[in-house]
Amino acid sequence: MKKAIILAGGAGSRLFPLTKIVCKQLLPVYDKPMICYPLATLMLGGLREVLIISTPKDCPMLRDYLGDGSQFGIRIDYAEQAKPNGIAEAFLIGEKFIGKSGACLILGDNIFYGKLDFFRDALALEKGACVFAYQVRDPERYGVVEFGSDGRAISLEEKPKHPKTHFAVPGLYVYDEQVVDLCKTLKPSGRGELEITDLNLLYLKKNQLHVKALSRGMAWLDTGTQTSLLEAGNYIATIEHRQGLKVACLEEIALRMKFITRNELERTIDKLPKGEYREYLRLVCQEDSTAAPKPVG
Ligand code: DAU
Repeated sequence: MKKAIILAGGAGSRLFPLTKIVCKQLLPVYDKPMICYPLATLMLGGLREVLIISTPKDCPMLRDYLGDGSQFGIRIDYAEQAKPNGIAEAFLIGEKFIGKSGACLILGDNIFYGKLDFFRDALALEKGACVFAYQVRDPERYGVVEFGSDGRAISLEEKPKHPKTHFAVPGLYVYDEQVVDLCKTLKPSGRGELEITDLNLLYLKKNQLHVKALSRGMAWLDTGTQTSLLEAGNYIATIEHRQGLKVACLEEIALRMKFITRNELERTIDKLPKGEYREYLRLVCQEDSTAAPKPVG
């Protein structure tokens, strides 16, 4: 089973002053902190060993919020990234944690909503790396992938001024056991970072990079600016109001994935403050004891 990393550091400068005290990944996206969404994606992929990497200042706050993960039937470790030296540095920081298994990385500010089969399929791959492609209006803000006539990726560029396509690479990456050794060969880019796109290019050169286009029915939401953060919150609110189901409710996912039992969830609920979240989880428990269909996600 692959290990999972959430990279949740960075200066949060684009969201200042929201990020003066609280790190970006703990800012609310509607009714829960942002980090719940990437963690939910990992849990729905079946991953149960997670390393959260953040700044020395923010690690304690994230640990206060999520703890060791036992309430969700998973294990969460924490590690510090002294400076934002680049996304690929996550694999050097996580070398010991990853060991000989492959690793999946998700950025702590990336939100995915929809059927996650594409992710589960990627996790099942034994050799190489898998990244995804998602059509966006403003590809110059992202890693951009170009496909050849046979549908295989032929080029990858980080934030190109003149993007060759509208396909951005979202912040969700799956790698085999070569990942740490390959990261050790990377050199910092012009902006002084170990670039995730350079790591993906190494796999591309070896002919071991799978790039899967996500269907337009998937939502990949951005939280990088005040406006996109608000839009992401509104999106989640709209879905939750329509269905009466919460998106990225970690306790609920833990139960549905059978990481915890109903009794364990009931004990967690007893410790929660009275309010809407607790009432929701009570309903989840009640419904779990009936034969009604249980949406997993
Ligand atoms: O969101 C997807 C995009 O993420 C990809 O398409 C790009 O290829 C990839 O480079 C990245 O672009 P961003 O412009 O979003 O990268 P940013 O520097 O904003 O970092 C993304 C998140 O990772 C951010 O919340 C902070 C965190 N981070 C970033 C760096 C560079 C760290 O925790 N440590 C770091 O060293």
